[in-house]
Amino acid sequence: MAGRSIALYDVDGSLYATDNICTHAYACLSDGWLDGEVIECPLHAARFDIRTGKVLDPPATEDLKTYRVRVVGDEIQVQLD
Ligand code: FES
Repeated sequence: MAGRSIALYDVDGSLYATDNICTHAYACLSDGWLDGEVIECPLHAARFDIRTGKVLDPPATEDLKTYRVRVVGDEIQVQLD
């Protein structure tokens, strides 16, 4: 879908995808810090579980949207809505 920014994560060979924009304000999670399956927003340090999108730490209160990811040949495919 045009204009959608998605963050793609590789955790020891397992791929995950979420919306790239934090649900708290405008920050790119792809600029944040990944610790295992947890992404920390670079702006105010909210943390999300990238497997489920669940908020783990404030100030964010809204979960992230997650997407299914698969590898087909040399392509990474992300299933949008
Ligand atoms: S913009 Fe991500 S925690 Fe505020």
